[in-house]
Amino acid sequence: MKIQSLRGMPDLFPEDLNRWHAFESKLSKIFHSFDTHEIRTPLLESTELFSRSVGHSTDIVNKELYSFLDRNQESISLRPEGSASVIRAIIQRKQEQENHKLWYRGPMFRYERPQRGRFRQFHQVGVEYLGFEEGIAEYELISMVLQINKLIGISDFTIKINHLGDKLAKESFCNSLVSFLQPHVNKLDEKDQARLKSNPLRVLDTKEKSTQALLKEGPKFQDFISDDSKSFLNNLVDAFSDYCDIQIDQSLVRGLDYYTGIVFEAVSQELGAQDAFLGGGRYNNLSKQLGGKDMHAIGFAIGVERIIELLGIENIKQPLKVGFIIVGEQINKKTYKIADDLRRANNSIILDTFLNEGSLKSQLRRANKNNCSYVIIVGDEELKNDQVMWKNLLEGGEQELLTLKEAIEKYTNL
Ligand code: HAM
Repeated sequence: MKIQSLRGMPDLFPEDLNRWHAFESKLSKIFHSFDTHEIRTPLLESTELFSRSVGHSTDIVNKELYSFLDRNQESISLRPEGSASVIRAIIQRKQEQENHKLWYRGPMFRYERPQRGRFRQFHQVGVEYLGFEEGIAEYELISMVLQINKLIGISDFTIKINHLGDKLAKESFCNSLVSFLQPHVNKLDEKDQARLKSNPLRVLDTKEKSTQALLKEGPKFQDFISDDSKSFLNNLVDAFSDYCDIQIDQSLVRGLDYYTGIVFEAVSQELGAQDAFLGGGRYNNLSKQLGGKDMHAIGFAIGVERIIELLGIENIKQPLKVGFIIVGEQINKKTYKIADDLRRANNSIILDTFLNEGSLKSQLRRANKNNCSYVIIVGDEELKNDQVMWKNLLEGGEQELLTLKEAIEKYTNL
């Protein structure tokens, strides 16, 4: 039997990764301009880290964690998200009282039912601002999200935003929601009945139309949060509503337990059912929950597979490519040296040297197919006279005989 990759864990081939690289290079410029620095944490962590942060009763921990016992019989898990590990790392370094602006990227693992935009191994780019209380950090992160979307050419999106209040407000809303839903429990589907027992706030995420209608009559988050929180949310929405479609969504609670305060998601209709291409919010209690000191925290994570789907093709810059064609027998030291000198002269150009099979005609055909803009042809005669033939494949195929020195100069200035 042939060995296949695991379900929901796709390979990424060079042609897929062109888009990824375009995205990543733009992102790194944005992070640089926000003075946000990269952190790398391990893929494996103790299972307890996630049950104490993301939450025992969340789907992510309950059903989707890749957990197993290591050789020491300790339960460890592949990370389903990045925030918990970042907080763990900062606590471990005893740096909770400093400010940090961090970003990370890498694979995350959730045992979900695979479908379009939903994988078991997927990738996130995340940002965490630590040590900043509610205020400017929220503005800065939303503006970072808008800059990212703009730079990679996403215009058709909505930011959904909500304020979950503090821990107490969240709890009393939750109690009120349970009291409201309890008399209607038989009208809920099996999944929502289970959520009502284990994690009632998740019922707000229901896909059932009848439950959505019922919830319209139910308690509203806004009635449980303070006036300050309400006006903070409204001001935030006001500040950005000229620049994007930003909407308060009172049913937005997000699938991880650690949030309090502002939560947000960016969604795009172009993505189908899995329409959120990034999500985040404030989680000031997490550090304490994990045994650290109090630390303000807010962040978001982009689902890379999803945002890549939205990336405009015009954003993928094709690098300049030059074909290197050898005709005749001599693939020798001298021909190799020419290629080597060209690469040293200008390494931002791709020099495609693997065209060296068959006739000149077939090599030219291959160069065209490989999107070469120019070719440099080295034949016996040229080699003898320290020359090359330079052919322009873009404009009518003109060609000129150049000395090696001239060719290197031309290549340097392409
Ligand atoms: P999350 O909403 O669970 O938040 O994930 C963030 C993004 O990851 C989602 O919006 C989605 O684009 C992508 N994503 C999630 N699950 C999958 C999947 N199975 N397949 C493909 N993409 C997926 C978090 O993970 C939080 N740690 C975000 C955060 C950072 N909050 C504060 N700081």
